[in-house]
Amino acid sequence: MEKVRIANIENYVEKEVEINGWLYNKRSSGSIKFLIIRDGSGFMQATLIKGEVEESVFKEVDSLEYESAIKVFGLVRKEPRAQSGYEILIKKIEIISKAAENYPISLKEHGVGFLMDYRHLWLRSPRQNAILRIRAEIIKSIRNFLDNNDFILIDTPILTPAACEGTTTLFETEYFGDKAYLTQSGQLYNEATASAFGRVYCFGPTFRAEKSKTRRHLMEFWMVEPEAAFVDFDECNEIEENLITYIISQVLKNRRKELNILKRDISKLELVKTPFPRISYDEAIEILKSNGVKIKWGDDFGGEDETIISSRYDSPVIVHRYPTKSKAFYMKPDPKREDVVLGADMLAPEGYGEIIGGGQRIDDYQLLEKRIKEHKLPKESYEWYIDIRKFGSVPHSGFGLGIERTVSWICDLNHVRETIPFPRMLNKIYP
Ligand code: 4AD
Ligand code: MG
Repeated sequence: MEKVRIANIENYVEKEVEINGWLYNKRSSGSIKFLIIRDGSGFMQATLIKGEVEESVFKEVDSLEYESAIKVFGLVRKEPRAQSGYEILIKKIEIISKAAENYPISLKEHGVGFLMDYRHLWLRSPRQNAILRIRAEIIKSIRNFLDNNDFILIDTPILTPAACEGTTTLFETEYFGDKAYLTQSGQLYNEATASAFGRVYCFGPTFRAEKSKTRRHLMEFWMVEPEAAFVDFDECNEIEENLITYIISQVLKNRRKELNILKRDISKLELVKTPFPRISYDEAIEILKSNGVKIKWGDDFGGEDETIISSRYDSPVIVHRYPTKSKAFYMKPDPKREDVVLGADMLAPEGYGEIIGGGQRIDDYQLLEKRIKEHKLPKESYEWYIDIRKFGSVPHSGFGLGIERTVSWICDLNHVRETIPFPRMLNKIYP
């Protein structure tokens, strides 16, 4: 008998197969028992009929606890009444390991807080499985898009002496008597490699000691950061929107089943089209004011503000030209107006907030030195970064896309904690 994965079961109708998995659920009706088996690739019904298997097997299944590891052997049939559309008629079961009693998160309703304590087991559920499969699809599509558009993957360090995104969210560690930090972003390093390779991207975990508890913040999150030489602000925004529509198209093509498990309204994703709307920070402030928000020019947007702005559009909106004072030290001022920078945030629709931050970088040596001083950053840690402007400086731009925020939007989840296998949250690092 061929060993098959549930995801491919449709190719084995009327054939005898072996499935290796775990007992997810079971119910009995007289002389028939229905087991739900999961094997990681999917869930399916396995049916035991009294008289068609040995009596001892039939009895043993009664005492088998949820999550016991088993092999089932039998005939695959179409079964429209089963959730997957197929079932396996069991001929034989082999028990690999019996699970202990009282599976802590068995099929009752539980709160998310409780389930998070059992994250290592919760990942086995259909919903969590669907979310992380969509996450993997999103990552795959990002890598394909960038690889196919001439960007080369360059890995940047995790331990660094320099802050990229301000000094208030740094995780500090000791480095042979010196201070080092967990990286907040690979950007500064990839500005260097962009001058070596032209178009680069890094993709890895980034760390921020975010002291506020929100639905959108993690302490450890994954970010993809393209950086490109000779690419200006407008060109950068175009790359961003093309990347997003590519991601959506791939998820719609390859992960429809998973979106349906999550009951995601797919029609909303189908509305995402380029060109994305672009509004200036100034316009965004006016929109907020006309919605009764008490805000003045120069203020940051909060989560609620982003929702008001983004809910006006079906596609993500690119908000550009933020006040120079509110943004990172490396952002290039608009040559036509020094009080704003050529930086943009992309806000996802349906109230999902900022998924991308990026823009054009300062290419002028002296201005960069001045900014490093103004931001009270230790110059000695940035000498190498300044060198990039000393030796062949060019206009260059880049951006960072937060994977978890993107997954959260595409899956329509109200909290980023379900978008990553083991979330690191404020004051919580278990499991
Ligand atoms: O806007 P941010 O801070 O930009 C940067 O780090 C730039 N250096 C990127 C670049 O230009 N190369 O972060 C980029 C994105 C945000 O838009 C958001 O999606 C995500 O990273 N992000 C977070 N996601 C989850 N938890 C957090 N604490 C996050 N902080 C940022
Ligand atoms: Mg940002």
